[in-house]
Amino acid sequence: KEIFLKDYKMPDYYFDSVSLNFSLGEENTIVCSNIFVYPRVEGISNPLVLDGKDLKLLSIKVNGKELKKEDFHLDAQHLTIVSPPSGTFSLEIVTEIYPQNNTSLEGLYKSSGNFCTQCEAEGFRKITYYQDRPDVMAKYSCRVEADKSLYPVLLSNGNLIEEGDLEGGRHYALWEDPFKKPCYLFALVAGKLVSRDDNFITRSGRKVSLRIWTPAEDLPKTVHAMYSLKAAMKWDEDVFGLEYDLDLFNIVAVPDFNMGAMENKSLNIFNSKLVLASPETATDADYAAILGVIGHEYFHNWTGNRVTCRDWFQLSLKEGLTVFRDQEFSSDMGSRTVKRIADVSRLRNYQFPQDAGPMAHPVRPHSYIKMDNFYTVTVYEKGAEVVRMYKTLLGSEGFRKGMDLYFKRHDGQAVTCEDFFASMRDANEANFQNFLLWYSQAGTPRVKVTSSYYAETNTFSLKFSQEVPPTPGQPVKEPMLIPVAVGLLDSKGKDMPITSIYHDGTLESVSTHDRPIYSTVLQFKKKEEEFVFSDIPEWPVPSILRGYSAPIRLDSDLTDDDLNFLLAHDSDEFNRWEAGQVLARKLMLSLVSDFQQNKPLNLNPKFVQGVRSILGDTSLDKEFIAKAITLPGEGEIMDMMEVADPDAVHAVRSFIKKYLASELKSEFLRLVESNRSTETYDFNHHSMARRALKNIALAYLVSLEDAEITELALHEYKSATNMTDQFAALAAIAQNPGKIRDEALSDFYTKWKNDFLVVNKWFALQAMSDIPGNVENVKSLINHPAFDIRNPNKVYSLIGGFCGSPVNLHAKDGSGYKFLGEIVVQLDKINPQVASRIVSAFSRWRRYDETRQSLAKAQLEMIMSANGLSENVFEIASKSLSA
Ligand code: ARG
Ligand code: ZN
Repeated sequence: KEIFLKDYKMPDYYFDSVSLNFSLGEENTIVCSNIFVYPRVEGISNPLVLDGKDLKLLSIKVNGKELKKEDFHLDAQHLTIVSPPSGTFSLEIVTEIYPQNNTSLEGLYKSSGNFCTQCEAEGFRKITYYQDRPDVMAKYSCRVEADKSLYPVLLSNGNLIEEGDLEGGRHYALWEDPFKKPCYLFALVAGKLVSRDDNFITRSGRKVSLRIWTPAEDLPKTVHAMYSLKAAMKWDEDVFGLEYDLDLFNIVAVPDFNMGAMENKSLNIFNSKLVLASPETATDADYAAILGVIGHEYFHNWTGNRVTCRDWFQLSLKEGLTVFRDQEFSSDMGSRTVKRIADVSRLRNYQFPQDAGPMAHPVRPHSYIKMDNFYTVTVYEKGAEVVRMYKTLLGSEGFRKGMDLYFKRHDGQAVTCEDFFASMRDANEANFQNFLLWYSQAGTPRVKVTSSYYAETNTFSLKFSQEVPPTPGQPVKEPMLIPVAVGLLDSKGKDMPITSIYHDGTLESVSTHDRPIYSTVLQFKKKEEEFVFSDIPEWPVPSILRGYSAPIRLDSDLTDDDLNFLLAHDSDEFNRWEAGQVLARKLMLSLVSDFQQNKPLNLNPKFVQGVRSILGDTSLDKEFIAKAITLPGEGEIMDMMEVADPDAVHAVRSFIKKYLASELKSEFLRLVESNRSTETYDFNHHSMARRALKNIALAYLVSLEDAEITELALHEYKSATNMTDQFAALAAIAQNPGKIRDEALSDFYTKWKNDFLVVNKWFALQAMSDIPGNVENVKSLINHPAFDIRNPNKVYSLIGGFCGSPVNLHAKDGSGYKFLGEIVVQLDKINPQVASRIVSAFSRWRRYDETRQSLAKAQLEMIMSANGLSENVFEIASKSLSA
């Protein structure tokens, strides 16, 4: 059933307080819920409809009296109380559930012997009958009772009020959360866990106990998570003036989790892979992900929990904003440019394709069948870009004023994206005409810009036009407000001062001689607009969309010489990188067309020269160099083609890599030699940058398939003292098929077979391989003793990893599609949320040639015809077929 934003209605009843009682057991769990209900409007007695799924109702009482059969209705999804008393009343419901059989990992379930919960978006209804919607906010208390030896630790939200022993070897704990919250933030954990304890003193002097809970053997791997948490707490105080509001903050790491992590009030639950790290077992990328996600969930305490969403269409209100906050946090803790490059690459590689396909939806969707399908890169990452645009338009101080007003107005409320918009606007008396369209229009806007210089008047003009492409259900779009950050480079490569801009019939002065400005933000909001810069003494090279100031596709009339010039000189480091990417994309597309016409492939010497000069530029940050010499992804290039051709794109990308490796072999060798780790592992930018540069150099070199280089890679593998270097060397060795590869892979497995997170990397590495015919290898890994289809991390590593190799996923014989189709059907019976993520790999099937189209379509049709298909998979598969 499809649900629409326009149908939103306020609830007839609110819940003031809820007291829950869980009796956890091996055979069943009994949940008793006591709710204090009040009507929104005095005097009504409309039916009260509660959500519930897979529950066994044991009893229901209103004001202490058991309801008779005719006083309520039960169906598979609801419990309806036909005519509740008018005024306030109490509601007592007892249900029985079976967490030990819950493989969906939604609601209350078991993960390696421990109980835990995941309620967002609509999992609470699998625990008890409730108004499972975020605009119903109540105060919770939670009593948990369980066997003491099996579940020595009992946790829930808020403060621990009381605990004690019971007869029969059982014990209990009573928790109380003083803050009102929607039920999606409820959490419970019970199990054999130990904690790393620390504390943080807030700036107003509150002493907060911090505890990170894991099974005993993992405790040593929580040092970095604790460091990240304390850094996040400090950062939110420094940057947003936001303090933690309770005396206890718990994080629990569980190995079975559908997503990354969950911001339950004072009891964050995390996928283990985003908590556990040691230099020997986690890579720099893992360390960075942990920092970002620990920050993300902590930041939700204000953006999500204190101020929450009115309904699930508003998800980006909390997610876009919180992703923006975690991006900024990571930038401040490391390198801003490198972080920005990583975030923009992610947007291009994952969000752009979504925005151009059958699942395209606005940052605030208009409808959904299953909310879980809308925890997307569009809601999260494009949503974060929308928040970033406010900051670009208002400046740091203006943005902070908007945030302050948002909390002042809405603390304790469930609100909408318009409320956030209004706070930003009102705090700054800003004119945000056409900005709200970013929330309602799907599709990546395409912006064209042409430049002209008029020597006789010393003026320089930029003419912009914009077009938002049609997307399913939205054939026609309006122009939006697009902030375009611009700088102008003189012939020496220095930024020119920008003094005044003529636009829309008025001349606006930007800066004066004594206070020059070198970068400005143009507010482009019509279909076509021209901006004319005055006092420009020579023809400049414009640096447009600095810092990637809006999530758009930009086509400019810059020549290759201009781009090379920007790559060498732009003061905006992001745009230096971007200039290189534009050049590389152009080059790759033209080689793809040569390849398709069976022409020999040749690499422009200027491109090689450009890469050589970046490699040798000692003034550059090493991680920046690593990013700058990374070619655009295959997906990014296919995304720019009329008909996506995975074989051609792969061949071209491999050709360029190999060609660069042979032309620049001595440079790459020197980089490997000179950037080896000397000190013990440290998570700081300097050391990570060295590792990144060394490892990408090694990856280039192995493409030469040269025995001497293989020796080098093996040496790096054996001498590595941390997982970053060890895994990078293994990945390099694994690029080329053969005995050495097989031996290295099996050596790695033997070393790490007892560490499931490392084994997942081993699965992913093999699954992502571009070695021809790799589907057979992946199929046999499914039967590997370490694989378990019930564990989402393993599925994402092996099946998700396989989808990361376009040549194998899109193999011309359809073997990749067939494999995926069968897995989806099997997985859907176990865990619909995970199955639904995997089936998304099919969604862009229309982008390929006819043979591939018909093979992929056949699999989608096979999936659609499966018995008992979940709504999750149904939504993605049916939309993919129809659009
Ligand atoms: N709110 C979580 C976050 O921090 C994500 C939870 C998503 N869960 C789900 N079942 N879709 O991003
Ligand atoms: Zn989040």
